[in-house]
Amino acid sequence: MIITHLSLTNFRNYGRLELDLPLGTTLLHGNNAQGKTNLLEAVYYLATSRSPHASHERQLLNWEAAQADEPVIVGRLVAQVSTQTGDRHIEMRLIQEKQRNGRSGQSSFRRQALVDRRKVRLMDLLGNLRVVLFLPEDVQLLTGSPSGRRRYMDITLCQIDPAYCRALSQYNKALEQRNALLRQIVEGQGSLDVLPIFTDKIVELGSQILGRRAAFLSNIAREAQHIHYEALTQGQETIRMRYLPRLPQDGNGRNRDAADLEAAGEWLQANHDDTGAIAERLAQTLAEAQRNDLGRGATSVGPHRDDWALTVNGRNLGSYGSRGQQRSAILSLKLAEINWMENLTGDKPILLLDEVVAELDERRRGLLLNAVQQSTQALLTATDPGMFTTQFLEQATGMTVENGRVRLDRQVEL
Ligand SMILES: Nc1ncnc2c1ncn2[C@@H]1O[C@H](COP(=O)(O)OP(=O)(O)OP(=O)(O)O)[C@@H](O)[C@H]1O
Ligand SMILES: [Mg+2]
Repeated sequence: MIITHLSLTNFRNYGRLELDLPLGTTLLHGNNAQGKTNLLEAVYYLATSRSPHASHERQLLNWEAAQADEPVIVGRLVAQVSTQTGDRHIEMRLIQEKQRNGRSGQSSFRRQALVDRRKVRLMDLLGNLRVVLFLPEDVQLLTGSPSGRRRYMDITLCQIDPAYCRALSQYNKALEQRNALLRQIVEGQGSLDVLPIFTDKIVELGSQILGRRAAFLSNIAREAQHIHYEALTQGQETIRMRYLPRLPQDGNGRNRDAADLEAAGEWLQANHDDTGAIAERLAQTLAEAQRNDLGRGATSVGPHRDDWALTVNGRNLGSYGSRGQQRSAILSLKLAEINWMENLTGDKPILLLDEVVAELDERRRGLLLNAVQQSTQALLTATDPGMFTTQFLEQATGMTVENGRVRLDRQVEL
């Protein structure tokens, strides 16, 4: 899979960009604050409908354009994508509209997705472009909060599994409704009779999510273990990926201890395709936690409380690993993602590497650049191309990024 052409309008510091992208490796270089990361972000956003950086989507709209005195401001991201099975035109629009009856300065914001120039639901945009993103801050996946690790599973899975994405979006709605009802009951307004309607929805959708996450983690763990053991630590370290789902069996929605979480994860991974059995267990757990949930006014068990961990020799890398061990494990995981996507789709994903090469030691750098050279298309950013070998630079297409413009360095003659 490759992007042959990218165009951006009013996206971040790009007022207007029309860019042809070649096969193979493209090295985007330039000084700080010129738009290198923004370009990768645009591609990532088209693939996942999420930004790795912005806390609010409005931040993606070019701020000068956003301040113009116009009733409607539109940002556009468009990619011409070429795959084994054909070409596609995918587009995301960011639309800021002045509210007619609102106070001055107030505006609404929405997004619109298009595939082959036809409007589609946002989630139907996903899967048309698949990427694996490498960031220096990726280690935070291990050290940060469970919500970041859930987000990682969701974004990665949504790129290849539309059914997962659909179930996830419906689950989140059902969860909101169930929680709202629980709060109403706490306040003496809602009726307990209605609760089973939402609980059943949570069970139906939640069991699909749990099963698919369990399968994903098993598959990607196998790849990551192999890479880590064989290539990165040369037989020194075995990493394991543990699924830690919140499916306790102690009757009040709390896990007794970490072993309890792990046991639930192992059970899910062994039974990931038995949605009936998963649904039964989730239903039982929700029933046991109901008293607790009614006290808190929130649903305390289910996939929205999931977590996972990478361990070496049984120890959680997020809590006990050295910085170098964490970096290696994350690199193994990300490289595994590439193989996992290719195995499932028959197409190599596009690799996006934002300033990661500078942070790696020789072995890890070699392994990553090897993956880059084997990919059909990779976009790398660097402030200093001098850190790459001449051999690497010779086979890459160089582009200079300067103040929201991108210039081809030299034409490679074939
Ligand atoms: N919504 C926006 N509208 C206009 N400019 C923006 C917007 N959001 C960010 N920028 C600006 O875009 C510029 C380029 O940012 P970017 O992160 O792409 O730089 P970079 O080339 O990756 O730099 P570095 O080498 O420091 O990582 C920054 O100066 C930033 O302030
Ligand atoms: Mg940057």
